[in-house]
Amino acid sequence: MSKKPLILGIESSCDETAASIISENNQGNPIVLSNIVSSQVDVHKEFGGVVPELAARSHIEKIDWIVQKAIDDSGINICDIDAVASTAGPGLIVCLSVGLSFGKAFAASLNKPFIAVNHLEGHALSPKLNSELDYPYLLLLISGGHSQYLGVKNLGKYKRFGTTIDDAIGEAFDKTAKLLEIEFPGGPQIEVMARKGDSNKYNLPKPIFNKGGCNLSFAGLKTAILKITKKIKTDQEKFDLAASFQKTVIEILKKKTKIAFGEFEKEIKPKEKKFVVAGGVAANKEIRNMLLQLCKEENYAPVFPPIELCGDNAAMIAMVGLEKFKLKQFSNLDAPAKPRWPLDENAAFLKGAGVSL
Ligand code: KG4
Ligand code: ZN
Repeated sequence: MSKKPLILGIESSCDETAASIISENNQGNPIVLSNIVSSQVDVHKEFGGVVPELAARSHIEKIDWIVQKAIDDSGINICDIDAVASTAGPGLIVCLSVGLSFGKAFAASLNKPFIAVNHLEGHALSPKLNSELDYPYLLLLISGGHSQYLGVKNLGKYKRFGTTIDDAIGEAFDKTAKLLEIEFPGGPQIEVMARKGDSNKYNLPKPIFNKGGCNLSFAGLKTAILKITKKIKTDQEKFDLAASFQKTVIEILKKKTKIAFGEFEKEIKPKEKKFVVAGGVAANKEIRNMLLQLCKEENYAPVFPPIELCGDNAAMIAMVGLEKFKLKQFSNLDAPAKPRWPLDENAAFLKGAGVSL
């Protein structure tokens, strides 16, 4: 029996230091042998957001033992690793550089191939780690750093249907939480507070709701919330605002997802309609329920990776590494860190003032 590939994945693009070993079973399906994620939430809490220099320092302090632990927990011998895959972008350059340099040095010392991985491609392939999922499918990536609708046609072949033109959806949750004086990252807490509130109490704007295809925008929502928080005094009013915010986000996502379904079908003409939802915000039960209901109505098979594979992790980076390894798509040791690295190179850059939709 031929040896199954063993891939070491390394992730350090933002505030999670992560390493994972994956392989394949006899049926050729991926298996996760270890998946270590160390979050820096405590480092950034007092600043209300990720501080790049502190994040990079924390990656440097932890990367050796996180990789060591991933190897130890997997039970494999270090010499049996077949390739090392590290995130090369997009992300914070000072953070990316840590995992990228470490991965290159590790691969060189083992004399094994190195594979530079796009972090978004990791999210896009993450559901393959625990479910048999063939291309093509539609992906909604909703995290603290990204909000995108992507047609996943094949490894390395993507069509971006929509993206946020300003804040990511998780960022909108966290900024709303900050205005309500909740510790960073406050997204999960907003969901808890929303359960106690009246979602019809505040009428909030829905930026680019009726234009811009399935592109998204959340910055106007934050400005409206800022004005309201200046006036509210009671806990009940805070709960009502959290509920109204979440309801508004859900209405935006429902409408934009329907548009994305249409664009996916028109462009890709899939035999089976599959919809994958990944990223930390996919943990939100209200958002999940709305998307599940929508899939039922529109005849889509929904795929939600387990929570530990939804947020940033290295198993998803190793997953891309595994597919590239099998195709011998290796990178040179001078592969650069890329703060900006869209999966669909043909998609227009849609960020900042002056974007017209
Ligand atoms: O994918 P992720 O773990 O990390 C990065 O963005 O890199 O996503 C984290 C984001 C944060 O903005 C967090 O507030 C949000 O996901 N989040 C949630 C929930 N759980 C996590 N937002 C809303 N409701 C939740 N239950
Ligand atoms: Zn991510």
